[in-house]
Amino acid sequence: KPQGKKFTIGFSQCTGADQWRQTMLSDMKRALSFHPDYTLLYEDAGNSTNKQIAQIQSLTNRGIDLLIISPNETAPITKAVDAVFKQGIPVIVLDRRIDSESYNAYIGGDNFEIGRLAGAFIGNHLKGKGAVIEVKGLAGSSPAQERHRGLQQQLARFPEIRVVAELDGEWERDTARHRAEANLAALQRADLVFAHNDVMALGVYEVCKQHGLTSQIEFVGIDALPGPQGGMQLVTDGLLKASFLYPTGGEEAIETAVQVLAGKAVQRETTLNSIQIDASNVRAIKAQSDKLLSQQQDIEKQSQRIDELKQTYLTQRNTLYVTLAS
Ligand code: FRU
Repeated sequence: KPQGKKFTIGFSQCTGADQWRQTMLSDMKRALSFHPDYTLLYEDAGNSTNKQIAQIQSLTNRGIDLLIISPNETAPITKAVDAVFKQGIPVIVLDRRIDSESYNAYIGGDNFEIGRLAGAFIGNHLKGKGAVIEVKGLAGSSPAQERHRGLQQQLARFPEIRVVAELDGEWERDTARHRAEANLAALQRADLVFAHNDVMALGVYEVCKQHGLTSQIEFVGIDALPGPQGGMQLVTDGLLKASFLYPTGGEEAIETAVQVLAGKAVQRETTLNSIQIDASNVRAIKAQSDKLLSQQQDIEKQSQRIDELKQTYLTQRNTLYVTLAS
């Protein structure tokens, strides 16, 4: 890249409220701290597809050099991304997909595979027999569609396992809670709840607890975040029988953006690996992940401290110049 050239990366995030997306953003910021010439413009669409389309347009108008996007819904956002790409602005799609080829790189977990892993776990865990409730993510988003297909493909191997209800939890704990309240009859007949993410599993669990159903129902989720609030803790506590790691790809997205803006060729599809977290491995993996998390937080604190020191230095230098000049 030309010496001293500064770049602006626009990041359009479908929602910034949950812990998984906050982890994604701090993964990106940590990666960016090694590239001081790059600025990040961040927009949070708060789960609104229309808002996200408007934000993509406004980011483009602000003159970004590259767009990173995690689309709220696949189909309705595709056109807006097509328009950006056609203007010659490189696009990196993260976690949720668009419907067209208008991107330089896609980075994300293999959601079909995660659905399959969950289906295989559930089938074996229930010993091939039982009633399952599936709590799905937002219907228009690709991970919900792919996790659902993966689950179905594996459950087909277990003819005596029935999915007795499919609830639309839309990725949110509160929505899942409301759907569970409205479907208590189905929950009363269920052996296991499989939610497309851990926070929805937790929402349904809370309803089951209120109605005295937690001793008869088991819970499985996805994401398996570290930290005191994360899915790994829920597996440790036995609230979840299993969860599946869903890496954010935040760091990979920034590294890819830097490559693209340096004019280098990048891999078009990057699949991030998952792993099943259950009682047999959660202790070891959680210890490792928690340690990594706290080291990352240390790095963030240190780089903040360096920024502060830089500020102090600049102020003092200015004061000195003014004093010397007068
Ligand atoms: C966070 C989230 C995750 C889920 C992912 C799917 O907003 O709902 O829990 O794995 O999005 O895109």
